[in-house]
Amino acid sequence: MRQPIIAGNWKMHMGRVEQAVSFARQIRQALNEVEGVDRVLCPPFTVLTAVAEAMQHTQIALAAQTMHWEEMGAHTGEISPVMLSELCDYVILGHSERRATGSTAETDQSINLKVHAAFAHGLTPIICVGENLEQNEAGETHAFVGGQVRAAFDGLTTEQALRCVVAYEPIWAIGTGKAATPTDANRTIGLTVRGAIAESFGEEVAQTVRVQYGGSVNVDNIASFMAMPEVDGALVGGASLKPDFVELVRRGAGASIG
Ligand code: PGA
Repeated sequence: MRQPIIAGNWKMHMGRVEQAVSFARQIRQALNEVEGVDRVLCPPFTVLTAVAEAMQHTQIALAAQTMHWEEMGAHTGEISPVMLSELCDYVILGHSERRATGSTAETDQSINLKVHAAFAHGLTPIICVGENLEQNEAGETHAFVGGQVRAAFDGLTTEQALRCVVAYEPIWAIGTGKAATPTDANRTIGLTVRGAIAESFGEEVAQTVRVQYGGSVNVDNIASFMAMPEVDGALVGGASLKPDFVELVRRGAGASIG
């Protein structure tokens, strides 16, 4: 049985402390009461402390949206795992929006360093993978996404691999309102993501790792994804910024077949 996990990625929204805290307070009680699914909020760095405070005494976990792999050093503007370890339980790594940020872009190699750094500091990585439209149309999804998964998991111990969360997020589905079909997401997660994990860590680990789907998930389609046997949750962007994110999580929990 894999406990499903739904995370709300606020991206560069909810930027004012007062706004973030008031939203967190608004959804906190109802979100805390949803059973059968791990619930995670991913606020921007500057409001993490305030949201962490607002979420005290709840089961709602927090994630950072990225981090550097080094503990400290001359890296102006970067956030290290040490800085995050007291504030959150999870860290999103390799989000496609961060894989595409020019000279500071996250690469397969730096993401792997970050995955190791996360475990060294008690953080659980949410590793994002996913193909772009061109790759999808050229039939390259399996090779490309499989490669991303292998690179991210490189050198992990079995115990660490088991704890990873993977988010399969086809880039063309992010923020476009055009989600993958649940069947396609299910197939890629089962064959490609779990397949790549199984190659290095065996079938049992591959069947234990939790894999989310992400890309235009909303309150109306969440149940169809969660009803898929390979899908263990969702990484939600835009739809996590509204109070009915609670309803989305509720429907997800209800539809999950675990
Ligand atoms: P979206 O974003 O739900 O707004 O498509 C998902 C993501 O980027 O994680």
